[in-house]
Amino acid sequence: MKAILLAGGTGSRLYPLTSVLSKQLHAVYDKPMIYYPLTVLIAAGIREFCLISTPADIPQFRKLLSDGRQWGISIEYMEQERPRGIAEAFIIAEEFIGSDNITLMLGDNIFFGGDYFPRAIAEFRGGATIFAYHVKDPYRYGVVEFDQSGSALSIEEKPQNPKSHYAIPGIYIYDNQIVEIARSINPSDRGELEITDVNLEYLRRKQLSVRRLSRGFAWLDAGTSTALQEASAYIEAIERRQGIKIGCPEEAAFIRNFLSLSDLEALIHKMPSCEYRDYLNLVVSEAYRSHG
Ligand code: G1P
Repeated sequence: MKAILLAGGTGSRLYPLTSVLSKQLHAVYDKPMIYYPLTVLIAAGIREFCLISTPADIPQFRKLLSDGRQWGISIEYMEQERPRGIAEAFIIAEEFIGSDNITLMLGDNIFFGGDYFPRAIAEFRGGATIFAYHVKDPYRYGVVEFDQSGSALSIEEKPQNPKSHYAIPGIYIYDNQIVEIARSINPSDRGELEITDVNLEYLRRKQLSVRRLSRGFAWLDAGTSTALQEASAYIEAIERRQGIKIGCPEEAAFIRNFLSLSDLEALIHKMPSCEYRDYLNLVVSEAYRSHG
């Protein structure tokens, strides 16, 4: 399994914050937004990444994440010149995908809780796996309707009259049919290759599995200034209460054994003195304690 992180778009709803800095590089509490989805994918055991963004923003992502080697992963960068839809990512990344399965995650989706994604990725056997999450305002999202037995019946993109309260979050797992399917769909009225049309095609082929995320799980949106502020407050509350960090790629890479303890110590050594470094030092001392 490889992964695409999609961090394109103009972030117009966050203007003027986004006039000089990509939305996905803005802070969510104490880290750049892109750290959160990246960490979810590292925690799921993925090591090969392709980050897609605009030509103007890629240099900054590269400065932040480099080629990933420091975390025991690889990151390639590819350009999406204009926001022509989420599904265009599979066409842009066709060579990167090769003959693999692929997980696509949107760079502005923040998740916390449970092990849904590592499990879904480990159990993935083909077709498509997407998720559903109960929200108050489904009309802002892709919406899935279930039949009595809990199977997906329909999917609509930003419907005016949603058939359910189940929104589809921005993480999608596909087999290798994805490139052919992305090539076969037509742009929507807003001129984008819609991820919803991809999911509808898997549904038509009877190869779509939709997993519901439970109440205890958090899916946060960081698309508007208010939502960004709320996401920061949420992350801060959990981190301060639990003394853990959400969205820390170094820690996830260490837990996954992509980094050894001495690799992690070497990384910490290069960091300036800051809370982030203090946290990773705690991770190291806990590891020493538990391994004797
Ligand atoms: C996109 C998708 C939508 C999905 C959402 C998740 O919406 O089109 O189906 O529910 O991401 O964040 P957009 O980012 O275009 O508003």
